[in-house]
Amino acid sequence: MTSDLTDDQAAAHRAREAFTQRYDAAPEGVWAAPGRVNVIGEHTDYNDGYVLPVALPHTTRAAVGRRTDGRLALASLQGAGEVVELAVDELAPGRPGGWAGYPAGVVHGLRDRLAGGISVLVDTDVPVGAGLSSSAALTCSVALALHDLVAPELSRTDLVDLARRSENDFVGAPTGILDQSASLLCTAGHALFLDTRELRTEQVPLDLTASGLELLVVDTGTSHTHADGGYGDRRRECEQAAARLGVPALRDVADVSGLAALEHDDVLLRRARHIVTENARVLQVVGILRDADDPRAIGPVLTEGHVSLRDDFQISTVELDACVDAALESGAHGARMVGGGFGGSVVVLVDRDRAGAVAEAVRDRFAREGYAEPRTFDVVPSPGARRLA
Ligand code: GLA
Repeated sequence: MTSDLTDDQAAAHRAREAFTQRYDAAPEGVWAAPGRVNVIGEHTDYNDGYVLPVALPHTTRAAVGRRTDGRLALASLQGAGEVVELAVDELAPGRPGGWAGYPAGVVHGLRDRLAGGISVLVDTDVPVGAGLSSSAALTCSVALALHDLVAPELSRTDLVDLARRSENDFVGAPTGILDQSASLLCTAGHALFLDTRELRTEQVPLDLTASGLELLVVDTGTSHTHADGGYGDRRRECEQAAARLGVPALRDVADVSGLAALEHDDVLLRRARHIVTENARVLQVVGILRDADDPRAIGPVLTEGHVSLRDDFQISTVELDACVDAALESGAHGARMVGGGFGGSVVVLVDRDRAGAVAEAVRDRFAREGYAEPRTFDVVPSPGARRLA
């Protein structure tokens, strides 16, 4: 890969040109926001718990310019080429729908300052529907653009909230703050340790290359969607478990001995046990990385996380399980599904010189099982959202 700077410049140029062609005027700037892969800490964010994501090298770029006719125009280089256009004062939850709802929700959050209207063109290389936060990359690129253009007093944490509200209140996807925080707060060479209750962050150094390691992502190509079904169910089950235990959130349960009151409800017990043990796993992984011990030691903890998501949280799939098994059998130190679940990607910690063989073993297993060929790539912990031009 060429250097980030060159990649960023090329991406900014492409978005600027496309914007100018589409709207007959140059944009005021181009902003980029990355997708994320979570090292550990899955479904803990809406339980006031801990997460540890890294930003992907893949980003969504937003070229943005203000208008004077009171309209919002949204175009994507990945779409069929149509422009979604409506008056800023016509924006309402669910309107517009589809991909345009994500950036529109961010504009809606700052509509008082955007009465003159705004044009946006987006371009992305974040895999969509792969559990790698393509939606957060989209909302956060636009949120950072609006910060620079009309809301400079907002902090990055405020922008996390603006982007999250777009997903929760405008699009109707009940996410936590993991994805938006990763996209806006991550820094190159680090994992972001975030306490989602206190909103305390720590940049934990993660130089895998120096240790001869690779963080391999396998996108199984099976898709997930948050707006319907399983994700919302898990959220409700966690809330019920917390209520049953008499605590504000499952974060407040220190260890599994605190779950005795759930012993007659197998489902709630499993959900709560995942959250309690997953928070402990985040702290364990952070401890290993902070002490600069051999990062290989986090591998088994990641695998335990997968087992817990599979058996207790019950959000894995046959493809995700096959991927984890094949990776471990072929020499990976650890592997787990990432993101909301019910499809998407697996993250694998592997020695650099074994990465090719592990990817091959996963592809072989998928071919044998008759699953579609997965896509694999290496993740270098990359910078969070930034202005490109
Ligand atoms: C999705 C949500 C996040 C988080 C993860 C699971 O990515 O958007 O808020 O809950 O699932 O960890």
